[in-house]
Amino acid sequence: MLLTRRSFLGGMTLTLAGTGLPAATRELILAPQAIKARFAGHDVSMLGFNGGLPGPEIRVRQGQTARITLDNRLEEGALVHWHGLRVPNRMDGVNVLTQDAVIPGASFRYQFGAPDAGTFWYHSHYLSYDQVSRGLFGAFVVEEQAEPAVDHDIVVQFFDLLLDGSGQYDEAFNPAHFATEGRIGNIVTTLVSNGTGKIVKRGDRLRLRLINPSIDRVYRVGLNGLAGKIVALDGMPLVHPQTLEPILLAPGQRCDVIGDATGPIRFDDDFGEQTLRLGEIAVSGYRDPAKAPISALPPNRMPAPKVSGPTTELVLQGGAGSASHSGTGTWALNGVSGLPRTPFLSVKQGTTARISIRNETGFPHVMHLHGHHFWELDAAGRTGAYRDSTYLDIGETRDILVVLDNPGSWMLHCHMLSHQADGMATWIRVG
Ligand code: C2O
Ligand code: CU
Repeated sequence: MLLTRRSFLGGMTLTLAGTGLPAATRELILAPQAIKARFAGHDVSMLGFNGGLPGPEIRVRQGQTARITLDNRLEEGALVHWHGLRVPNRMDGVNVLTQDAVIPGASFRYQFGAPDAGTFWYHSHYLSYDQVSRGLFGAFVVEEQAEPAVDHDIVVQFFDLLLDGSGQYDEAFNPAHFATEGRIGNIVTTLVSNGTGKIVKRGDRLRLRLINPSIDRVYRVGLNGLAGKIVALDGMPLVHPQTLEPILLAPGQRCDVIGDATGPIRFDDDFGEQTLRLGEIAVSGYRDPAKAPISALPPNRMPAPKVSGPTTELVLQGGAGSASHSGTGTWALNGVSGLPRTPFLSVKQGTTARISIRNETGFPHVMHLHGHHFWELDAAGRTGAYRDSTYLDIGETRDILVVLDNPGSWMLHCHMLSHQADGMATWIRVG
């Protein structure tokens, strides 16, 4: 069963339109609450921020301060994490490590700057496998001071959902899902938000901001009808934009593409056994395509890595059929399941660490570090993309290099949120 839904959330998009220079502070309220959303012909009981799924598209200008009040209208705790944004630790929204859950009826004010331009997102970080799968997520866009010239800036989120036989959110939470590839939905919905609401014409230049807020599903997204380049991964500009090929998008990851429409823009996923049509952006009419070449986005300020000490190993273990390890969950990192008392790594602020991540399990994973981006290293030790989440196939090892310059306690976990819930989480202390 496959449902594709296009939702034009123009009215909900919070832009700075109107008055010339943006205010120094962007204020808004995020209120998570129970909602009904329409999927596959059913009114499904879900959760949403400010009444919608996805939550409002938050847009700030690079350098602006965001002041966001979480107003908890759920009947359980709530927290918001700003995925990929380099925020102060106490604003990171992580239960236990950085703050207590906000109780029902209470509120909490998050305030942070936006040092990096790019495509980020926000989501619940309280019982996140549950709350995110019910809809508590949204896009967080930080616009460049000098934005690239495009006709449309469109956020596209691929979200999957597991419905039961009666067309409602499946409450069963099969334990076998946690121990294997996670909770994979039987519906995939493509949430398209076109802030300007303008009709896309053939020949128009588009910037697409692809986000994977699904809790466990990996996509490999092929784009048809667009001639362009990949310009950013996980919010961070690529020094050299890459040829547009099918894009691996694991949970939590983002990808920015800039290109010219050559026809209807179709998103297909060929990660699984069969190709799935994820969604489409219709085009109508024609204009002469923009002639300017697609160039790299302006870089964000990146820390300079200094030669590091010894490489630290992080071994991913556990899952169905694996040997035992300590702790309570199914998955483990370096022999421990669940958030350990002591951090995986404790370093002085400014330390460059090289971490070698080895996937010894029978399943793929995507490891996400809070508060920082890191370089993926290739086998020869050369730095590749600067990301906040790295995908590891079965048996794969990848080294990352990270300048730990943001003080505090930062989670490092698998962003397949069923795996995180079932033990695949640790943390780093930067003092
Ligand atoms: Cu996107 Cu720890 O999260
Ligand atoms: Cu995992």
